[in-house]
Amino acid sequence: MNAPLIDPFARPITYLRVSVTDRCDFRCVYCMAENMTFLPKKELLTLEELDRVSSAFVRLGVRKLRITGGEPLVRRGIMTYFEAMARHLESGALDELTLTTNGSQLARFAPDLAALGVRRVNVSLDTLDEEKFARVTRWGRLPQVLEGIEAAQKAGIRVKINAVALKGFNEGELFDLQAWCARRDMDLTFIEVMPMGDLGGEDRIGQYWSLKDLRARLAERFTLVDLAERSGGPARYVKLAETGQKIGFITPLTHNFCESCNRVRLTCTGELFMCLGQEDNADLRAPLRAHPGDDAPLESAIRAAIARKPKGHDFDYSRQEVSGQVPRHMSHTGG
Ligand code: GTP
Ligand code: 5AD
Ligand code: SF4
Repeated sequence: MNAPLIDPFARPITYLRVSVTDRCDFRCVYCMAENMTFLPKKELLTLEELDRVSSAFVRLGVRKLRITGGEPLVRRGIMTYFEAMARHLESGALDELTLTTNGSQLARFAPDLAALGVRRVNVSLDTLDEEKFARVTRWGRLPQVLEGIEAAQKAGIRVKINAVALKGFNEGELFDLQAWCARRDMDLTFIEVMPMGDLGGEDRIGQYWSLKDLRARLAERFTLVDLAERSGGPARYVKLAETGQKIGFITPLTHNFCESCNRVRLTCTGELFMCLGQEDNADLRAPLRAHPGDDAPLESAIRAAIARKPKGHDFDYSRQEVSGQVPRHMSHTGG
């Protein structure tokens, strides 16, 4: 009954990403349209339901839990859920409890997160220029995020910066971002922009900056040493020999990493997406709500979903056109 979760391509599923809200206090241009309609509250899993589903995954062998959104820290009462998950860290069932955040609320929550056993956070930050930051996030303010990052570090949490590589936007900041992270002892990961969600006229091909090119530019100034080490996600890392810092590359477009995929995604309404780049999903809310005192139907639904996990995404920009686009916004599944 407690056999681990293995998908049809023999990939063990040990990493669950949980999007706890579709809401966000920013409106990043590559992630959301400016006028987003959010889900009504009654659609959402309650904090207790999120606990039940996440705990079922932990029983089925998930070792790493990443909390995402939207912006996870804007969900009311979210610390109750983190507290609940911390018990799996204490029992040794989980290796890591972590989150991906825009940083806006970190100043407030970092000490509590650290106390609950969060050792690392990934903070999305695409530019260090205040005016550009306001432009790309539409609603965000850079100083607030910088305060959040500082608070996390002060609390003893390791920070990794995630920057989406955007043509004509942060190309000129490559070395500024790299040096800024080096000074603060933070890792830095670049992400290729993926075709997800209708953005109301934003031009994907125009946004796309290949990490092959970004890497070549880094190599003009630094010696890049490929690292075998992985953080459990899709990033490949290099070390810059001159500074010793780690730079990660998440390359869904130029190098497909799906063959080693170990993760699935739960949305805040209880849909399980078996792949970020495909639409197929399984409703876990129905078995959860139909059987309040019995997790067996939920566990069967999870197993049935994993049994149809697809091989990978179909994102492609070659031939100067977007293909493999999914209509869902990134904020729906949390990246
Ligand atoms: P760590 O390795 O633990 O640092 O985490 P991670 O890289 O898995 O997590 P993070 O939230 O930092 O992921 C960064 C971004 O990588 C996500 O927001 C997505 O844009 C992308 N990403 C993560 N997992 C996948 C995946 O399975 N497929 C694709 N196409 N992109 C992914
Ligand atoms: N392509 C790539 N990354 C994206 N993110 C949001 N939308 C996209 C997209 N279309 C990133 C954010 C954040 C993470 C949750 O996903 O910048 O780092
Ligand atoms: Fe919010 Fe993150 Fe999407 Fe930006 S990328 S709008 S911070 S969820």
